[in-house]
Amino acid sequence: MGEPFAERLERLEREAEAGLAAASDVTALEAWRVRILGKSGLLTEELKRIGTLGADERPRAGQLVNQIKRRLEEAQAARRERLEAALQEARLATEAVDVTLPGRGLGMGGLHPLTHALRRIEDIFAAQGFSWTEGPEVEDEFHNFEALNIPAHHPARAMHDTFYLKAGGLLRTHTSTVQIRFMETHEPPLRIIAPGRVYRSDAPDPTHSPVFHQVEGLAVAEGIHMGHLKATLKAFLEAFFERPLSMRLRPSYFPFTEPSAEVDIGCLLCGGKGCRVCKGTGFIEVLGCGLVHPEVLGRIGIDAERFTGFAFGMGVERLLMLKDGVPDVRLFYENDLRFLRSLR
Ligand code: FA5
Ligand code: MG
Repeated sequence: MGEPFAERLERLEREAEAGLAAASDVTALEAWRVRILGKSGLLTEELKRIGTLGADERPRAGQLVNQIKRRLEEAQAARRERLEAALQEARLATEAVDVTLPGRGLGMGGLHPLTHALRRIEDIFAAQGFSWTEGPEVEDEFHNFEALNIPAHHPARAMHDTFYLKAGGLLRTHTSTVQIRFMETHEPPLRIIAPGRVYRSDAPDPTHSPVFHQVEGLAVAEGIHMGHLKATLKAFLEAFFERPLSMRLRPSYFPFTEPSAEVDIGCLLCGGKGCRVCKGTGFIEVLGCGLVHPEVLGRIGIDAERFTGFAFGMGVERLLMLKDGVPDVRLFYENDLRFLRSLR
């Protein structure tokens, strides 16, 4: 058996202790454990070898191996503890969090400027006694055209203005559809606004978007005249722009109003000098309006001898462009947060 058992074990213990001291990290320590104490480690092999010794030697040898095993296990545990503490300390040093630094913030969401403007418009009209209503964006020709006294040959019906749907019907080109829908189910006196999205196959340019928003207004009662319309609009526009305004009623034509007018206000971007937005005119059109055509009232079953009404339809993007100096309507639809946040 060469070297006596006890001597070999002592040497093994010394070497193991040296190896343990040299294990400089947890990985090296684990390698050491496998080599010495593992299932086929050096000490385990010695334990197995006890069976080959003489019967008188076995008890002492067993005791010796077990003592060494216990000592090495304890030394290993102590070493592991120290290495783990060192590792922890190193981690704390490199991953330190400076709790005095300001936080990053969660980035609050916000309302789109158009939503914000629509709510303001609703509030201003609510204060004038107008209630809120709405209608569908997918419409039929009756509500978008016929009931509004727009005959089949009218230019507004031409394909270049209207998105027709394959399945039949169309995307409403204005919110005037809601005038009809409301009068179908309500008797005068009535006073409503109807905000919503409308669609036109207009070529996009700084003042035209194929989808935009209108707010429709309708008041029907006995004795309503142009003066009511003009005063209502002037009060609205000055509340919306929060300043006195120059407002121009330009005679115009809509099949569903008589007389009809378009309302221009002095371009607030250039102060009336003429710019890209007002196309050099110094004025910008913000809405169409007029007295409800007796033909429209009569067709829906309202006595046009007794009742008169006014109606208007305004472009919300155009109003907001003027108010906040937005040079291009398309900015509202490009989702550039830098632009959207600049309007808050
Ligand atoms: C109409 O749509 C009428 N229904 C308005 C009306 C209602 C008249 C009630 C009389 C009584 P008009 O097509 O002019 O009218 O459009 C109304 C407003 O929508 C315009 O003044 C303009 O501010 C805005 N607008 C029109 N086309 C666009 C577009 N492509 N992009 C953005 N805004 C637009
Ligand atoms: Mg127009």
